[in-house]
Order: sequence, then C-alpha cells, then structure tokens
Amino acid sequence: MRKIFDAYQLVGDLSNFYDRMLTNADLFGRLALKIFWGLDSAAYEKFLAQAFAGIPKGFSGRLLEVPVGTGVLSLPRYREMNGAGIFCVDLSDKMLEAARSRTRRLNLRGVELLRGDVASLPFADEFFDLVLSINGFHVFPDKTAAWHETRRVLRRGGIFCGCMYVKGVNRRTDFFVEKFCERQGFFSPPHETLTTLQVRLNELYARAEVTHVESFAGFVCTK
Ligand SMILES: C[S@@+](CC[C@H](N)C(=O)[O-])C[C@H]1O[C@@H](n2cnc3c(N)ncnc32)[C@H](O)[C@@H]1O
Repeated sequence: MRKIFDAYQLVGDLSNFYDRMLTNADLFGRLALKIFWGLDSAAYEKFLAQAFAGIPKGFSGRLLEVPVGTGVLSLPRYREMNGAGIFCVDLSDKMLEAARSRTRRLNLRGVELLRGDVASLPFADEFFDLVLSINGFHVFPDKTAAWHETRRVLRRGGIFCGCMYVKGVNRRTDFFVEKFCERQGFFSPPHETLTTLQVRLNELYARAEVTHVESFAGFVCTK
C-alpha cells in the first residue's frame, strides 16, 4: 500500500507527463502508448470508447468513480452529466490536487473529490447507481477488498463498468508491466487474464460483458 501511495504521489507531481500519455496528446504520449501498450491512434480511440461504454447517455443518478487519478479522461465527460451526483475517490492527495484544479478549469459543479481507499469506501451499501473504475484494478493492492467494496456500494440493478490491464494478451506489455510498473510500485500483481476476469465478474454480477483492446479489458456489469 505504501509503495503504491508513494508511486502515485510522484505521478501527481509529474501529472503533466502522465496526462500527455493518457490522452495520446503529443509525440511522447503516442510513442509510449504504441510501444508499451500496443495502442496506435485508432486503437486508442477504441480503448477510450470501451472504458466509458457502460455509462448510459443522459445518466443522471449517483456515480462513484474510483480511482479518479488526475481525472484527465473522466472529468471532461462530467460536463455533460448535469443532473448526476458524482463522487470521485483516490488514495493520493497529489493526484487529487491535479483533479481539483481540472474541475476548477472545467468549471464543474456537482462533482465531489474525496481522498479514500477503495478497500474501505466511506459510503452506505447500495448508495450508487453506477460505479466506474478506469485503470484501477491492476493498481489496487487489496483486490479482494476492492471487488467487494465496489459491489457493496452499488444498488441492485446498478452498473459497474470501466477498464483495467489484463495479462496474457501482449507479451511486450506484460514484460513492461512486470519489469517496470510492478517494480516501481505503479501496479500490484496478481493480474487478471481475460478469462479469469470474465469468471470473476460472472460470480459477482448478474450480467457481465468483457471486451478488450490490446491489454486493456473493458467491463460492463449489472448487479
Ligand atoms: C493508473 S492511475 C488511474 C487513474 C485514473 N482513473 C486514470 O485513468 O487516469 C491509478 C490510481 O489509483 C490510485 N489508487 C491506488 N491505490 C488506491 C486505493 N487503494 N484506493 C483508491 N485509489 C487508489 C492511485 O493514487 C492512482 O491515482
């Protein structure tokens, strides 16, 4: 837990770099996405669409996003969700700082940013209509607690969706994840494969659809 926390405090300080990679925004970002994650620009667009595929158009209920990170991918989308009550949680206050300045720049209202641990969410059972998790489950150290908590706070019939890294799709990505992301404390093993993820989500949810773009699995589940 400490290693992950320290790693993302550092990323928070360097959020500019992180955001450039995640948004495919310039040559640096495009090269990193292509070399390490196997995503060219077309695949990157599919990755984005897949990550947010579970949010219904015009959604206006209560949404939890965990982890929000710097919010570079998600926060701009919340501008179109005026009626929704949005709560965004992250462990790292540095990542949250970057997210906070983004909400100010975007002039977002109705979005609450909270420091917290996915393994012990500060919300009542079944509080949310939708739980979104983008690039979180390959990071969380206590995955059992994270699966449990994200399901606990979701109402029956609610949607759990997002994306995560899965191993076994791209050998170069797997090598990079093991030798760099895990060693530097950015990711926590063990990692799901496409098959184990589908099995796990089938056990937890009434319906679960898993897709993938390269090593990123997208999931849309109904409780
Ligand atoms: C790879 S980033 C993803 C952030 C964001 N969803 C995105 O795609 O940019 C992983 C995030 O998980 C957060 N994190 C790690 N462990 C956590 C935990 N136990 N509870 C909540 N957030 C956690 C980190 O601080 C970091 O911001």
